[in-house]
Amino acid sequence: MSNQNDTFKNLIAHCKEYGFVFQSSEIYDGLSATYDYGPYGVELKNNLKEYWWKSMVQMNDNIVGLDAAIFMHPKTWKASGHVDAFNDPLIDNKDSKKRYRADQLIEGVMEKLENKMNKEVTKAKKRFGESFDEVQFRATNQRVLNNQKKHEAIRVRLAAAMTNEDMADLKNMIEELGVACPESGSKNWTEVRQFNLMFNTQLGAIAGEGGKIYLRPETAQGIFVNFLNVQKSTRQSLPFGIAQIGKAFRNEIVARQFIFRMREFEQMEMQFFVKPGTDLEWYENWKAKRLAWHKALHPASKLRYHDHDNLAHYANAAVDIEFQFPFGFRELEGIHSRTDFDLKAHQELSGKKIQFFDPATKESYVPFVVETSIGCDRMFLATMANALEKEEIVGGNGKTSTRMVLKLHPAIAPVKCTVFPLKSNNPELVAKAKEVLNDLRFSVNAQYDDTGSIGKLYRRQDAIGTPYCVTVDFQTLEDNTVTIRERDSMKQERVPMDQVEKIVREKTDMRLLLS
Ligand code: GAP
Repeated sequence: MSNQNDTFKNLIAHCKEYGFVFQSSEIYDGLSATYDYGPYGVELKNNLKEYWWKSMVQMNDNIVGLDAAIFMHPKTWKASGHVDAFNDPLIDNKDSKKRYRADQLIEGVMEKLENKMNKEVTKAKKRFGESFDEVQFRATNQRVLNNQKKHEAIRVRLAAAMTNEDMADLKNMIEELGVACPESGSKNWTEVRQFNLMFNTQLGAIAGEGGKIYLRPETAQGIFVNFLNVQKSTRQSLPFGIAQIGKAFRNEIVARQFIFRMREFEQMEMQFFVKPGTDLEWYENWKAKRLAWHKALHPASKLRYHDHDNLAHYANAAVDIEFQFPFGFRELEGIHSRTDFDLKAHQELSGKKIQFFDPATKESYVPFVVETSIGCDRMFLATMANALEKEEIVGGNGKTSTRMVLKLHPAIAPVKCTVFPLKSNNPELVAKAKEVLNDLRFSVNAQYDDTGSIGKLYRRQDAIGTPYCVTVDFQTLEDNTVTIRERDSMKQERVPMDQVEKIVREKTDMRLLLS
């Protein structure tokens, strides 16, 4: 556990030190669960968005984009169910005055049981060595079986309490399981009550309820209310999708773990409109496609599906793609089969017909929807966590040292290439280095740096994940060749100066990821 904590703390420190993520309004001691992206952070985030946008919109004939406003008519949120049902169960500890999500406290007990079972497995693995059969061990070891039974009972009861909005049973569970406040150890709890996660504000000069509008808690509704506008203006036939990237806001009760759970965050969502009856087939299709998208960037061992135990009010099937963050497997993306819930609800409340006329069958119907929804910030965190490594390296003199290296896929790296002159005080070397830079910057994000020794400059570029560094030296002045150094292998190669742009562009092309 403490190893995990250290890894996570180091990652947060690295994000700050190298200009990826800063606490919002830090000079005023920060604003909780709100973060700003620094110079390298914004580049990486933009690249992740580009990877998503290109793979969804550009690579699919039947998916188009949208950029809807954050403010929407307040009836939107009535129809979508968010006014009545977008709640989390809140509980306070009377002694520590700390506020928690009741379901998360109970999930914490389940996580402890899982850790106990995993410990038994690790111990047995050590004892039995090569011949160890984990599946058989889990199916027969009494201690594991007892904990599994407890775990399952809690899971089923929690799912029922959440689905039925049974706040009293959540409180009973917290008491029966002996859950103590993680801060103070106190078991002196208030009742559990529902807390709506939507932020609201006033529109124009209308005071009171009349002018109340919400900051959108998901981007999806901007897509639903524009279904007809988009379908008609792009002459799309079913099935087709609408994709959008944009900010969403949730007044999270507990917002910890850095950019994992924020109150202002960004979503990348796609609603895929299909003929009723084909929805579950499309759901399976998108489940597989989205996992493949993640696998192009992250190892399969760090990704898994997790089926929802309690479905949201709009879904008939839902799965999370979970990523192994430094604090364990957690939701990275949700794929939901949302039925015709949203379009039907908007049709009813607005009084406007929201249907698709199928020319093949001459019928009109409300399409069903399969949604893929990923948090851009969580994707950023997963990418950083997966890429950051502390590596031992052996120098030319045989001495070992360590380097922090961000092994980002070259296509998403914030800076693709940095150019150094061997000596910063030699005008000829500087001029040549600037020449290489000026050629590069038309096609990729490139930098120039002459603020230290070459060794130090390499370390800095490794830490921000720059895949290629080019050094201009005295030989360049004679034959117009430079050395190009690759981040992961640290191998250097001499290449003609006029080839650098082509080499870097090809090796960092987004095509490598998309294909
Ligand atoms: N339109 C469906 C929807 O919003 P969700 O599971 O509530 O579904 C989708 O959110 C994704 O948005 C999540 O998988 C997660 O990546 C991201 N997300 C949700 N709440 C977040 C928060 N408070 N901070 C950062 N990302 C969040």
